[in-house]
Amino acid sequence: MNVNDTMRASEFDPFSESYPTLLNESVAITGESGEYFAVYKANFIAANVAALDCKILDYGCGVGMVSAKIKERIPQAQIDGYDVSQASLSRVPPALRAQGHFASNIMDLNPPYDVVLVANVLHHVEPANRLFTIREAADLLETNGKLVVFEHNPANPLTRRAVRLCPFDENAVLLSPKETMEWLALSGFESVRVSYIVFFPRALRWLRPLEKALGWCPLGAQYAAVGRLA
Ligand SMILES: C[S@@+](CC[C@H](N)C(=O)[O-])C[C@H]1O[C@@H](n2cnc3c(N)ncnc32)[C@H](O)[C@@H]1O
Repeated sequence: MNVNDTMRASEFDPFSESYPTLLNESVAITGESGEYFAVYKANFIAANVAALDCKILDYGCGVGMVSAKIKERIPQAQIDGYDVSQASLSRVPPALRAQGHFASNIMDLNPPYDVVLVANVLHHVEPANRLFTIREAADLLETNGKLVVFEHNPANPLTRRAVRLCPFDENAVLLSPKETMEWLALSGFESVRVSYIVFFPRALRWLRPLEKALGWCPLGAQYAAVGRLA
């Protein structure tokens, strides 16, 4: 990691306490809470990427919201976490710490991992440093391991509005699925696939069973890019 990233990323320290509340406020227009989005990501990983007893790294884990939901969904998995914000790491729930390593120094992790997850992190990384970040994540994977990048979809106007109004997204620079796919391809990932996710607000929740079939539709609020390390 270079100095710029450390400085940019530690911008999350002041938000570590308020992160869940600010996230809830930012997604309130959907009628859901931040927890809904964390559960959504955990379900995506359980359904599409992770085996039951796998070892997962949550890269840029923040306060551990997504990690906690993955652990609930796949109890046999070991979940480790990495983040440059020590204040955020200090809020990772004790139950997660008891089953894995949560560290701000990449050398304190315990690779290789079957799956590395990078959820809503890259839009906080300077565009010039994104390739480095993906390669750093790739280096922690087992051969044939899978990288999952979740990102905001810049093509969705409600997503752009939520980012514009969210205090911890002040410096965010959103990245298109095309850009994410390019970083993955340049980092040695094969069979990279993008699936759009999170389409219907709570008011239209009866339509949500359709979402699994809408992965191709570029209107989702977020997207997941999955690649396998060659
Ligand atoms: C929007 S939060 C997302 C947290 C968590 N992944 C989630 O989905 O709830 C972004 C996180 O990425 C971390 N971050 C930003 N740049 C990073 C980098 N280069 N390496 C590791 N973590 C980074 C920040 O410290 C922050 O905790």
